[in-house]
Amino acid sequence: MQYRSFGRTGWDVSEISFGAWQIGGQWGQVDDEESIETLLAAYAQGINFVDTAEFYGAGHSEEVIGESLRRWDGKRIYVATKIQPTRWPDADENNPQMRGRYPDWYLRNGVERALTRLGVERLDLLQLHCWVTDGLNTLDWLETLNALRLEGKVDKIGVSIRDYRPDEGVDLANLGLVDSIQVIFNLFEQRPVTTLFPAGARTKTAFIDRVAFDSGSLSGQWTPSTYDSWEVGSQQHEMFRGERFTETLERVEALKAICAPYYSTLAEAAMRYALSSPEVSTVIAGMSTRRNVERNAAYSDGQPFPTALLDQLTEHNWPRNYYK
Ligand SMILES: NC(=O)c1ccc[n+]([C@@H]2O[C@H](COP(=O)([O-])OP(=O)(O)OC[C@H]3O[C@@H](n4cnc5c(N)ncnc54)[C@H](OP(=O)(O)O)[C@@H]3O)[C@@H](O)[C@H]2O)c1
Repeated sequence: MQYRSFGRTGWDVSEISFGAWQIGGQWGQVDDEESIETLLAAYAQGINFVDTAEFYGAGHSEEVIGESLRRWDGKRIYVATKIQPTRWPDADENNPQMRGRYPDWYLRNGVERALTRLGVERLDLLQLHCWVTDGLNTLDWLETLNALRLEGKVDKIGVSIRDYRPDEGVDLANLGLVDSIQVIFNLFEQRPVTTLFPAGARTKTAFIDRVAFDSGSLSGQWTPSTYDSWEVGSQQHEMFRGERFTETLERVEALKAICAPYYSTLAEAAMRYALSSPEVSTVIAGMSTRRNVERNAAYSDGQPFPTALLDQLTEHNWPRNYYK
């Protein structure tokens, strides 16, 4: 496992890390013991960073991670969690207001609950689950987070950028107000390399890359019958509904053809593409099986991404928001 600096924090984090949404239970039934074993297998592979949120299974993902930490006696594991806003902005809302989304009392209660669920005395990294750019005009959220840091409840702070709006993080990155920014960056969403990553590089803001496999499509393992195998009401059943699934499959097939001369699976190309940007500190891969932990850990070998392939991939940039 290769490690990268986590911005200006002094942390060295595994370049591939654990996205823990799935183990909260919103992607289909999960067995907590299996989830804990998967987490422990990841730690044993050198993965030392886990991304979770109160939103993932109403805190269940945090509880399962907490149990894995109690059973782990190896090197330090960094856990990044998130607090959701009092009200999520609409996906189509261009300039949502910050006021009222993260009031002091609310952040404080949320931090206490996360500390309890994780069973720790201090949160390693607390992220606002939804950043809105108006947060640069209304800084109460930052005052509270700074106070929580001084009180020893939170170590580092970060935000997660809204889906498919990477430029909403540019001013924040330029100012360097937070330690980390989480954003979607994958074979379909290539835009962060143009403006967001250079802005963060100037202030040494760490970038956490989410959804490197486009929530599964870029695993390259889906077939036309995959959609019907998902539980009705599960996250992926909702996200890829209607025409979305077939259109995604068509685009995935095109990517497979381009990547095949270089990599034996699309999943490998997808992970190595995510790692290709040096500004990315870590790629949080959603993993609920040991098999995928082992596969992903194997991709962390420092091999450069072929420039010729990078050039061909630019025309496959396909930003769209399936979370709405
Ligand atoms: N707003 C936000 O802040 C936000 C939004 C979305 C996600 N996130 C974070 O980002 C993480 C990743 O997002 P995600 O889980 O939606 O998407 P993802 O990482 O793009 O995809 C996860 C899917 O890929 C599969 N997979 C993982 N490694 C693989 C491999 N080597 N080969 C083949 N398939 C593989 C997983 O299968 P198995 O489950 O079978 O292992 C799972 O179905 C989440 O867990 C969460 O921590 C944050």
